[in-house]
Amino acid sequence: MTERREATLRRLGLVPGVAELVWAALDDALGRAEAARQAAGEAPPAVVVLDAGCGRSSALARHRDRIGRFVGVDIHAPAPGALPYLDEFATVDLCVSRDAFPPATFDLVLSSFTVEHFVDPHAAFANLAGWLRPGGSLILTTINHRHPFVAAYLRMPDGLRRRVQPLVKATAADAHPLVGACNDPAALREALAAAGYTDVRVETVGHLARAWGRRLPTFALGLVGDLLARSLPSRRSTLVVTAHIPEPAA
Ligand SMILES: C[S@@+](CC[C@H](N)C(=O)[O-])C[C@H]1O[C@@H](n2cnc3c(N)ncnc32)[C@H](O)[C@@H]1O
Repeated sequence: MTERREATLRRLGLVPGVAELVWAALDDALGRAEAARQAAGEAPPAVVVLDAGCGRSSALARHRDRIGRFVGVDIHAPAPGALPYLDEFATVDLCVSRDAFPPATFDLVLSSFTVEHFVDPHAAFANLAGWLRPGGSLILTTINHRHPFVAAYLRMPDGLRRRVQPLVKATAADAHPLVGACNDPAALREALAAAGYTDVRVETVGHLARAWGRRLPTFALGLVGDLLARSLPSRRSTLVVTAHIPEPAA
C-alpha cells in the first residue's frame, strides 16, 4: 500500500492497525517468556517461538535478537532461503499433526491470518495448546465473519471467490482456500476456552483498506467497509486475539 493511502487511514483515525496491535502483543508475550526463562536460570536469548502457518513473512522476525530458537511451520514449504530468520521449518498441517512437536516446546506461538483457512480450528487450537509451555502465549489474527463484507466474501461460491481473490491479494500465492469455520469473536473465545486457554482477549480492528490497499478501487471499498464498522466493535473486519496456557496450581 502506498504511503499516501496509509496517511489517509491515519488522518481518518483508523489506527492502531493490526500490525501495531500484534507488535504490542508480541512485545508483551516475549517479555513474559523472557521473565519465565530467566526465573528458570536460563541466559537470554532462550525464548522458543513458533510461527504457525508462517507463509512468506513473520511479525516475529523484527524480534529475532530476543529469540533463542525460531521455528516456522506451514502446509506449504517456502522457497529455499525465503525465510532467513527461521532456525527451522517443518511442513505441518496444524489441524492434523498433533505429534509434530513434543509437549511444552514453545513459549510463544504466533498464527497470523491462518484460522480462516483451518478445516478443523478446534483441533489446531488443541495442537498448539499442547505444544505451548505452561504460562505460554498464543497470538492469533484472523477475519471477522460479523463484518458484512467479510461475510459476503466467505459466502461467495468458490468459483467466484477464486476470481475475486487475485484482485485483493498481492499474488496468486497469497490466495489460499478459505473455510471460515471459527471466525467471529464468540466462536473464537469458545473454541480457545475449550482447548484449555485462559485470559482470552479479543480485540477488533478495521483492516480491509490495508488488506485490499494495493489497488485504488479495492482500497476505497475496504475504506468504506472499515468506516461502516468503526463504531461497531464486534463487527470490525479483523480479530487480534491473545490467550495463555494456565500455569499449574502452586
Ligand atoms: C494468509 S496466509 C498468512 C501467512 C503469514 N502467517 C502472514 O501473516 O503473512 C495463510 C497461511 O496459512 C497456511 N495454512 C493454512 N492452513 C494451514 C494448516 N492447516 N496448517 C498449516 N498451515 C496452514 C497457508 O499455507 C498460508 O501460508
